[in-house]
Amino acid sequence: MTIDPDEYRAQSLATWGEMAPGWQDRREWMLNITGPINSWLVDKADPQSGQTILDIASGTGDLGFAVADRVGESGHVISSDFSPSMNEMARRNGEARGLINVEYRVLDAEKMDIDDDSVDAVVCRWGYMLMADPAAALKETKRVLRNSGPLAFAVWTTPDHNPWASVPAMTLVQRGYLPPPAPGAPGIFAMGDAARIRELVTNAGFAEPELEEIPFAFHYGTFDDLWDTLVRIAGPLAHVINALPDDERIATRAAIMQNVEPYRNPDGSYSAPAATWGVVAR
Ligand SMILES: C[S@@+](CC[C@H](N)C(=O)[O-])C[C@H]1O[C@@H](n2cnc3c(N)ncnc32)[C@H](O)[C@@H]1O
Repeated sequence: MTIDPDEYRAQSLATWGEMAPGWQDRREWMLNITGPINSWLVDKADPQSGQTILDIASGTGDLGFAVADRVGESGHVISSDFSPSMNEMARRNGEARGLINVEYRVLDAEKMDIDDDSVDAVVCRWGYMLMADPAAALKETKRVLRNSGPLAFAVWTTPDHNPWASVPAMTLVQRGYLPPPAPGAPGIFAMGDAARIRELVTNAGFAEPELEEIPFAFHYGTFDDLWDTLVRIAGPLAHVINALPDDERIATRAAIMQNVEPYRNPDGSYSAPAATWGVVAR
């Protein structure tokens, strides 16, 4: 099945706008689990005092805030997201943290209103694979970078290493609510293949990237907690689940509960494996 890119962009923008309150509510949970990924990306971007650094698809803004601490008050971070709701959330979070070196901008990564050769490094966590045209977004990224500055980004690896998302997604496919993933279509696993990442990155004008698979696990206190993440932060999966009529949503919840049983701990909590690619290119 081929997608209409403009239809996809409009739907994705609406979906992520709806996800903003969930991302804010689960911010500490997310930071506790995924903080090491932010640290990996910041280390690879290697921000220096006084530099200008762009965070693409910034969501809550936390990755950019870690960069802001490194560039210092003489430096500058552009925290960007295509969703105005996400961007506003990042602004509130940054202001609450007292950051004065962060600018908040609503920008679509596929076409950014940023000058050529104007930033020293770019970071992006779990953004590119969701974009209708990641090739265009990576070319835009290369365009705004100066002096062969680094791009450090994270994208999910393959479904077999990510049951936190692939088990619910597979359940939705089995129940006929989601088409099986089509090659080249945007989505959580669209850049899971290392060869695809290398191709996209080098075609955008970067040298051969360095890739590292970083395994971790999502922890949920109860099944209700796991379900909350699916319906309030999981973007494309949330969009499908939330559009279901009540009876089908209830049946889907039961089916997912059954399918995540292998990840239930004896105390009723859940630990679902996850793995992301950490990618750095110049
Ligand atoms: C999975 S969330 C990740 C948020 C944050 N980077 C993090 O890791 O916590 C994906 C984010 O990508 C943003 N996004 C999706 N497509 C985008 C695009 N074309 N341009 C800019 N942002 C986009 C969404 O609005 C959302 O905030």
